[in-house]
Amino acid sequence: MAATQNKQPVTGAGPLNGLLTWVDQRFPLISLWKEHAAEYYAPKNFNFWYYFGSLAMLVLVIQIVTGIFLVMHYKPDAAQAFASVEYIMRDVPFGWLIRYMHSTGASAFFIVIYLHMFRGLLYGSYRAPRELIWIFGMVIYLMLMAEAFFGYLLPWGQMSYWGAQVIVNLFDALPLIGPDLALWIRGDFVVSDATLNRFFAFHVIAIPLVLLGLVAAHLMALHEVGSNNPDGVEIKKNLGPDGHPVDGIPFHPYYTVKDTLGVMVFLALFAIAMFFMPEMGGYFLEYNNFVPADPLKTPNHIAPVWYFTPYYSILRATTAEFMYVLAAAVFAYGVLIWRTPLRGKGKAIALAGVIAVIVAFFAVEAKVWGVVFMGVSVMIFFLLPWLDQSPVKSIRYKGTLVRTALTLFVIVFLVLGYFGTQPVTDVGTRISQVGTLLYFSFFLLMPWYSRMDKVKPVPERVTG
Ligand code: HEM
Repeated sequence: MAATQNKQPVTGAGPLNGLLTWVDQRFPLISLWKEHAAEYYAPKNFNFWYYFGSLAMLVLVIQIVTGIFLVMHYKPDAAQAFASVEYIMRDVPFGWLIRYMHSTGASAFFIVIYLHMFRGLLYGSYRAPRELIWIFGMVIYLMLMAEAFFGYLLPWGQMSYWGAQVIVNLFDALPLIGPDLALWIRGDFVVSDATLNRFFAFHVIAIPLVLLGLVAAHLMALHEVGSNNPDGVEIKKNLGPDGHPVDGIPFHPYYTVKDTLGVMVFLALFAIAMFFMPEMGGYFLEYNNFVPADPLKTPNHIAPVWYFTPYYSILRATTAEFMYVLAAAVFAYGVLIWRTPLRGKGKAIALAGVIAVIVAFFAVEAKVWGVVFMGVSVMIFFLLPWLDQSPVKSIRYKGTLVRTALTLFVIVFLVLGYFGTQPVTDVGTRISQVGTLLYFSFFLLMPWYSRMDKVKPVPERVTG
């Protein structure tokens, strides 16, 4: 206590000096502010791609605040849910605004997060020593997907109902535990009031709490190791006489000002979407969801919301005949591993793995593999810090191989996303199958092409 009372009085805050001094002697206010803002030295060359972390925080706050107001009027009851949303839209003062902020916010969240993740891919921000920042980020991403999925059931429209039915039924396909697992998730034999109640509980409290904790962990890990930057140069390795990185600038005021600009542009775009095109042509709010849920009437075309569709395409691409192509691909991958120098029992283990996978491909039906591949296509991002073996972090110093692979990956992700929104066609399935192969090749071949790539020398200091 004596030590804290010896703290210097706060100056420079005008009439608030007294109050801040009083608080600071009882709470580490000033030291936290210094550590995470005024004296947090961030690389001086942050660019456009560095807006999305703070924007993700903004959208999280928008979702939580608008969510609180929605819950004041929403009824988590299968008999009343749809009508309560209509009531919010028509009768609650500014209810339509709150609801459109929340529904636009859901899509905006994923746009921001995908751009934020893409920045990680561009500049190798997942590489050592930032693996944990990436892992926390990935868990956040999984939680966001769960949050969006649970929230989508709440309006109790046709798409809410049938979307949930389709996704929960995926678990049903798993061998042995599947049917019991699906029953356990739903709390009933079909999606029902029991399902709505539990999804509501997860959507409004369980997952938001976890998300907030994870975001705190994400930022603590970031501030522990320091930010990466578009050059992939570690600024902490080059300290000036004052002990601060020579290529660093204090987060406050430099980046608080920069992020404020990002917030203003983002809010302008957000407002345009929200006021003029809240349904976004059926991508943000699907038309079928303006029809109340009817368990007796399956819609012709059931598609998840756009942010899930790349993975949904991979699920639908996995047909019985495609398993032969995949078996051939796994075999070729086995040959590649075999030809690569591996230590100890590495080769024997790899060979056994390849044989086991090929046998399993034909022992279990394709439908199950579709579910597995869909899951793996999301989870594989976790491995990026170890799959990327390039001697440099940033795309600026990487060569043609990695640049081509990343460009192709982005195109494939978008194409898979597009076909996931469309009804099944032969052409669409074929394209999705090629996309699926390319999608997994991007990750699984990375240890090879990232090593073979011809890289450029990385400068000592950041370039700008
Ligand atoms: C609610 C969601 C999220 C929030 C609020 C959030 C917030 C932030 C913030 C504020 C930063 C520092 C500023 C910046 O670099 O843009 C950051 C950095 C970072 N985030 Fe996130 N993030 C979220 C989700 C994710 C996800 C899903 C991933 C990846 C799977 C991820 C990976 C990273 C990485 C690798 C960095 C370090 C970037 C660098 O130093 O170059 N984040 N995040």
